[in-house]
Amino acid sequence: MKPVTVRTSPSLALIKYWGKIPGGTNIPATSSLAVGLHDLRTTTRVSAGDPSGTDEVFIADEPQPAGHFAPVIEALRSHARSLGRTHADIPVRVDSENSFPTAAGIASSSSGFAALVLALHAWWDLDLPMHELSRIARTGSGSAARSVYGGFTRFAAGAEFAEPLYAADWWPELRVVVAVTDSGRKSIGSRDGMERTRTTSPFYEPWVEDAVRLTRLAEDAIAQRSLVTLGPLMRESYLRMVGTSIAASPPVLYWLPASVGVIRACDELRHAGLEAWETMDAGPQVKILTTMRDLPQVQARIAEVHGVQDILVSRVGGDAET
Ligand code: PMV
Repeated sequence: MKPVTVRTSPSLALIKYWGKIPGGTNIPATSSLAVGLHDLRTTTRVSAGDPSGTDEVFIADEPQPAGHFAPVIEALRSHARSLGRTHADIPVRVDSENSFPTAAGIASSSSGFAALVLALHAWWDLDLPMHELSRIARTGSGSAARSVYGGFTRFAAGAEFAEPLYAADWWPELRVVVAVTDSGRKSIGSRDGMERTRTTSPFYEPWVEDAVRLTRLAEDAIAQRSLVTLGPLMRESYLRMVGTSIAASPPVLYWLPASVGVIRACDELRHAGLEAWETMDAGPQVKILTTMRDLPQVQARIAEVHGVQDILVSRVGGDAET
């Protein structure tokens, strides 16, 4: 059997998913709207494993705990069995690598689980609809439900899968600058961070309620391709997510001094008339949405911020390649 290789991109939430509905597997309490980061890629290869061994997953050649990936692998394997695929029961070997820092708050779990699902789908020659692939990817990581699609996506509160909103070429002049302030692994995983926020932050309920309004307004802004409208909504979304998180006990705080430096630099850039709308996730990196026109000035200013270690630039889109 020939190995299968798939490439996907991380899904950057413009409006954030933060909090799960209790009792489900990664069912979001808040709707998210996201876009694929076209030039950041996860490459995942599936090949036949050791016939007398078990499934094995490696990220950048490092063996991963099997249990983390087993539910996703088994969900696809059961479809392979039901279709009578002769290689359904042969263990798989999965090799994955990222062109960007892993588990550092750049959504490597979104592109990672999406690539795993798409690669196994091809490996076992299945014909599941995209929403089913999104549903299975969600069980690995909520944001992966969005990453199986490229372009602009929505993952509604309470939903089992994400949906595509617009194709990758909907808003071609957008650019994303990722200011890397620490490429190490994050201190608290998003799963634990969300759960601690839900169970201990007094601001969790208001955050969930307010997210409904933000999502509706941001969907209109994306439909109109209006960054001046979308930008302030993005900012409310991430800062309210952060607000509820740092009020948890103990606090869920990902920021570094350099993160604040980048936020302030974005404010300066906007005062100078440039488009620079930042957002953050479960990590200290800052992602800035700008335009092709303003990119050189935004990139130059962010590079000057003390503590910024690296800058990644991406177009938006990020369709999977199989
Ligand atoms: O799906 P997870 O566990 O990678 O969590 C994603 C959480 C955020 O990145 C902070 C927000 C989002 O919607 O991607």
